[in-house]
Amino acid sequence: MKEKFYIFLGPPGAGKGTQAKYIADKFNYHQISTGDILRYNVDQGTELGKIAHSYISEGKLVPDDIILDLVKDYLGRFRGQANGFIFDGFPRTIDQAEGLNEILQENQNKIDKVIYFNVDEQTIIARNINRRVCPKCKKVYNLLVKPPEHDLLCDICQVELLQREDDKPDVISDRLNVYKAKTEPLIDFYKQTDKFVEINGQLSVEQVAIHLEKEINGI
Ligand code: AP5
Repeated sequence: MKEKFYIFLGPPGAGKGTQAKYIADKFNYHQISTGDILRYNVDQGTELGKIAHSYISEGKLVPDDIILDLVKDYLGRFRGQANGFIFDGFPRTIDQAEGLNEILQENQNKIDKVIYFNVDEQTIIARNINRRVCPKCKKVYNLLVKPPEHDLLCDICQVELLQREDDKPDVISDRLNVYKAKTEPLIDFYKQTDKFVEINGQLSVEQVAIHLEKEINGI
């Protein structure tokens, strides 16, 4: 069966990662989250991590050439192991989108759908501020809608949950500005194709998942 390629597009904290993980696990897709890969490298202290940290901590985008090399490397390593790929938080610029098209064309592949999570700014800010992450297993919580069972401890690892450094209010507003300037133009870019689908990201996690499942299975 030919592999499928999906892009989850949307503002910071729209719920892309939550849904990408759910869909990837349920339907056997490989999730490529450039944010998670970069944070892993930051934690490990790799050369890439050192470079990435200076951008992430200020809410800026890591340069396109670094991101495209990273994605190409991941695609090469994981091709043929699942039903396809979900790009979560990538591409984030027109240059990344064009670079991705070239990478896919090299293997006669193409994007199947671009799913845009439409969420208003107030909700985005609330979701980011209230996000907490387990430093060990990386499970994502939300103090408002998905709190841990006890205090601020991970339900699985029982270690204290942390706030991402870029979820502090001043960095969130920088990330939002970068999103509007660099990533929002991708909405029009992909609207020109017949691959663009918009979903209401304001709904609950469960309701968003129902809409997404229809999109993924409806092809
Ligand atoms: P990245 O990690 O990709 O951050 P992002 O795009 O800003 O997305 P988030 O991870 O913040 O949010 P999400 O949409 O996945 O939401 P989530 O599901 O967690 O990137 C971080 C940084 O890395 C960037 O700023 C940049 O520096 C760098 N970077 C990454 N990719 C790059 C690229 N391609 N190019 C250049 N630089 C790059 O949900 C958020 C919260 O809301 C959680 O608490 C969750 O529990 C909750 N939630 C989720 N869905 C719902 C719902 N439906 N209702 C209520 N709460 C919900």
